[in-house]
Amino acid sequence: MSPLHLQKTLLLLPLLFLTLLHHSAWAKVEVQVEESVEAYLGDPAQIPCLYSFTDVESEPRFVMIQWFVRVSGSSSRIRIFYGDGDQQIVDNNTDYSGRIEVTSDGRGSKLSIQDVRLQDEREFLCQINGLSAGNAEGRTHLRVFATPEAPLIEGVSSGISVTNELPSKVASCEARNGFPKPNITWYRNGSPLNSEPGHVNVLILVTRESSGFFSVQSTLEYKVLKEDTDSQFSCELSFFVPGAIRTAESSSVNVTVHYPTTMVELWKESPQGLVKEGETVQLRCQGDGNPPQPFTFSREQELDVDLESNHGDVLTLSPVSRKDSGIYQCRPLDSEGNSDVKGEMQLTVHYLDPAVVVPKESEVMLRGEDLTATCNALSSLETSIVWYKDGKRVGTGNTLHLKDATYQTTGEYICEVTVPSLPALHTSGSVNIIVQGGPQLVGSDQDVQLEEAAGRTVNLSCEATGRPLPNLSWSLSSSQSYQEVVSRSNDHEALSVVSVLVTADFSAVCNASNDLGTESKTFSIRAIPRLTSAAPFSPAEGSGIIIVVIILSLLLLAILGSVLYFLHKKGKIPCGRSGKQEITKEKTTKDDIVVEMKSTTKTEDAVLLKAVNGDKPNDQ
Ligand SMILES: *[C@@H]1O[C@H](CO)[C@@H](O)[C@H](O)[C@H]1NC(C)=O
Ligand SMILES: *[C@@H]1O[C@H](CO)[C@@H](O)[C@H](O)[C@H]1NC(C)=O
Ligand SMILES: *[C@@H]1O[C@H](CO)[C@@H](O)[C@H](O)[C@H]1NC(C)=O
Ligand SMILES: *[C@@H]1O[C@H](CO)[C@@H](O)[C@H](O)[C@H]1NC(C)=O
Ligand SMILES: *[C@@H]1O[C@H](CO)[C@@H](O)[C@H](O)[C@H]1NC(C)=O
Ligand SMILES: *[C@@H]1O[C@H](CO)[C@@H](O)[C@H](O)[C@H]1NC(C)=O
Repeated sequence: MSPLHLQKTLLLLPLLFLTLLHHSAWAKVEVQVEESVEAYLGDPAQIPCLYSFTDVESEPRFVMIQWFVRVSGSSSRIRIFYGDGDQQIVDNNTDYSGRIEVTSDGRGSKLSIQDVRLQDEREFLCQINGLSAGNAEGRTHLRVFATPEAPLIEGVSSGISVTNELPSKVASCEARNGFPKPNITWYRNGSPLNSEPGHVNVLILVTRESSGFFSVQSTLEYKVLKEDTDSQFSCELSFFVPGAIRTAESSSVNVTVHYPTTMVELWKESPQGLVKEGETVQLRCQGDGNPPQPFTFSREQELDVDLESNHGDVLTLSPVSRKDSGIYQCRPLDSEGNSDVKGEMQLTVHYLDPAVVVPKESEVMLRGEDLTATCNALSSLETSIVWYKDGKRVGTGNTLHLKDATYQTTGEYICEVTVPSLPALHTSGSVNIIVQGGPQLVGSDQDVQLEEAAGRTVNLSCEATGRPLPNLSWSLSSSQSYQEVVSRSNDHEALSVVSVLVTADFSAVCNASNDLGTESKTFSIRAIPRLTSAAPFSPAEGSGIIIVVIILSLLLLAILGSVLYFLHKKGKIPCGRSGKQEITKEKTTKDDIVVEMKSTTKTEDAVLLKAVNGDKPNDQ
């Protein structure tokens, strides 16, 4: 306290004493102040202090105004201002020296504080002393506010297991440099989380900075549930501002929730559809746990044998065979003794074995015989069998009946085995059927008898069927010379035509033979002496005879014509033939072969004609 100040106080003391003495008897002074005044840090603050006297007549001329501040943590006070009618003094060496200003009029005093500091959060007292009117004081609490920094949240990056027995740290939130102390509230998906023993713990750490600010750190401990995988956690900061409470929200964090596997699924990932032998099969196992766990794979038949899986959740079987069919299982590697948690599936590997055809490879059968061939291929699925010969479908099903075999029956029979439900599976087998038979001469039932003018040539035709292909050989009587002019054959038909110069009667034998037999056909040819050389006529006689011959010939022709016409009408003679025809033989064999003799007077050559099944006659 300055000497001047002290002097003044000492001077006033007796007055004060008097005032107190007569307090109840004299007029009273009344002070009216606000309970509190609020201001932001750094802002100016004004604390008003109004006074009045109960007895207006005795209102004193002399009023003394003093402002004090309370020393925190004690009941003592420090004066910061003194004023009376003469002087206005801001006390030296206080927190407020140079920072305050007091304005007064007859009714009140107003303390103005500049640049409000944190230390200004205290009680301000205004004391009015009206001497005889007595004295009074009012107290105002100055509240200082500093907005804290925005809250910072930090989530826990490691996974949190739902099996943890106690709440685990989920996130922490910090708000720095606020005044007064701010609060932190936790939110989960927008709803506040209140402390709840065993489920939610909130640990708060409040720090008073050297600067006087409060920093608050809050840690949320929470017992996570599986559903919290998608939960968003945030913290909200609430702090006082003059006349209100404000809030500031942090950003949201999520947590990685770890939970055990309770369900496992096993399925075939590839290939799509039915599986056949030789393919690569991938089975995938998936559980509902987090983090995803590796699995062990096994077959139900041999549970104790673990199968190799390359990615922990995929079992690759390559290539599969029917032996790989069966029930497969997968279990979480760390199933924590809970072996009930497993995935299971049935794998079926389909197959089609090579076709087995009976008879094998090739089979010889005789003409007219019957044969039943079978074709079988073992498969896990229903098969369909079709028989083909020369690219044409000849039968279906696993048996093929060949009845009354002919040489055309000969050939390769292929059975195609397919699996309609799995077209990629197919196989085939084949058998070679060879139909054999002894030689059969075409038109061999009757021997052939011919007449031919001597000196002409006659063509003798011999045709035979049979397998192996018959050998055709000729033998002629009386050392007749002959020449083979046609020799043709296919796999079961042989044709031989020999040309013989007729000099005298002779017979010819065509011998058809193969391993299975021999058959022969005999041609008997009668040589007719030549007319020209045997009958020399005179011209006169000759003309008469010629006329008679002509007439007879005409008559004969007419008769012949009508006979031919009649036969033609009945369809006995094939169309398209011209000239005279003498039918020496008209016999339809089994193979419908017609052998006929045709002779014309002009050439008087004998021609053997043949027609097979409506074929054109052989070229002459
Ligand atoms: C306060 O100090 C100033 C100078 O430092 C001086 O002039 C003044 O008289 C002092 N006032 C009081 C009340 O001591
Ligand atoms: C969780 O947060 C991470 C990064 O913070 C983000 O990548 C992920 O998508 C979030 N998950 C959910 C479910 O919000
Ligand atoms: C902080 O919490 C306390 C206790 O619940 C409460 O009295 C005070 O008003 C709160 N402060 C704010 C800024 O919300
Ligand atoms: C006999 O056959 C040969 C060859 O086909 C032919 O050239 C010849 O003219 C025929 N002879 C007779 C008399 O038909
Ligand atoms: C067929 O006849 C020829 C001669 O005419 C003979 O050389 C051959 O061995 C005969 N073949 C058979 C199978 O009889
Ligand atoms: C026909 O040929 C076979 C075998 O070559 C022979 O055994 C048979 O005697 C022959 N027959 C005639 C009539 O020539």
